[in-house]
Amino acid sequence: MIYAKIVGTGSYLPGDPVTNDDLARRGIDTSDEWIVTRTGIRARHFAEPGCKSSELALIAARRAIEAAGCVADDIDLIIVATSTPDFIFPSTATLVQAGLGIRNGCAAFDVQAVCSGFVYALATAEKFIRSGSHRRVLVIGAEVFSNILDWADRSTCVLFGDGAGAVVLEASNEPGVRATALHADGSYHSVLWVPGSVAGGEVTGDPFVRMDGQVVFKFAVRVLDEVAREVIDLAGVPQDSIDWLVPHQANIRIVQSSAKRLALPMEKVVTTLDFHGNTSAASIPIALDCAVSDGRIRHGQRAVIVGIGGGFAWGAALIDF
Ligand code: UT7
Repeated sequence: MIYAKIVGTGSYLPGDPVTNDDLARRGIDTSDEWIVTRTGIRARHFAEPGCKSSELALIAARRAIEAAGCVADDIDLIIVATSTPDFIFPSTATLVQAGLGIRNGCAAFDVQAVCSGFVYALATAEKFIRSGSHRRVLVIGAEVFSNILDWADRSTCVLFGDGAGAVVLEASNEPGVRATALHADGSYHSVLWVPGSVAGGEVTGDPFVRMDGQVVFKFAVRVLDEVAREVIDLAGVPQDSIDWLVPHQANIRIVQSSAKRLALPMEKVVTTLDFHGNTSAASIPIALDCAVSDGRIRHGQRAVIVGIGGGFAWGAALIDF
């Protein structure tokens, strides 16, 4: 049996932290008290104007490759999850390939599943490895979400930040990704979306994030523990063997509720949203890298990652480290 094992992680947050008070000082009608109470977010990072997702992705990727103890040319597939690609085309993954100087002609493509993008990308990568066709896959979540924030909409602009996270997945005889589950329900597409597009040389529609936060909240709370249970069942492991839950980092109240429904104490939940906010597809790999780097997630331990975002699209993976 070939497993896909995470052998290296890396992440990157651009610039200095921007606190909730900083946002209020910049003229947004909000407060640290409101943001912390409703979301748990205390700060986020924003890329410099003009900075692209591939630039953040590259730094995270280099760190993950170094942690994996391999070199860029060992990578034989690159998958980037992003909702804020550098361009309409080519894919951000091909730009990362070029930036890494990879000349081996490896496949590279993007996955669009918004905040669940990393889970979708990891599940895709795992299938390539398990089929035997690829041995070492670079999976990245990267966003310059600030490009699509409306600073006049306080109900969304305080929630998001920029960043990137990456993992190197490698073929192994040792258990790695044991189960994945992906779902979507497109009937909710207009609850969380950027309803703009480019046509005839102009942006048509609205190029900013729009969200009905309460609908997202209720839906997320319901499906995140369902899909986490699904991968636990698929993997055929006892629920109490889960060492870590690494959820999408959007809102501490959603995270707490998922943990409670899964009967997991918060000590077993990796939360990093307080210092980077919702970085969409980048949030899970940033949280993973943080917990691996600080020694919380160790070799031999078991984690469930779980995410949901626009579409709605959601999913989970059960991973042995
Ligand atoms: O990756 C998935 C991404 N999305 C999410 O995870 C979002 C899920 N939803 C949420 O996290 C929450 O619904 C929010 C944090 C977005 C909002 O919290 P809420 O408890 O659902 O607040 P609300 O939308 O019901 O707004 C409550 C009040 C409103 O004022 P009134 O009408 O009661 O006077 C808002 O105008 O809070 C006001 N408000 C704010 N006040 C200060 C909304 N945004 C802000 C703000 N600062 N930034």
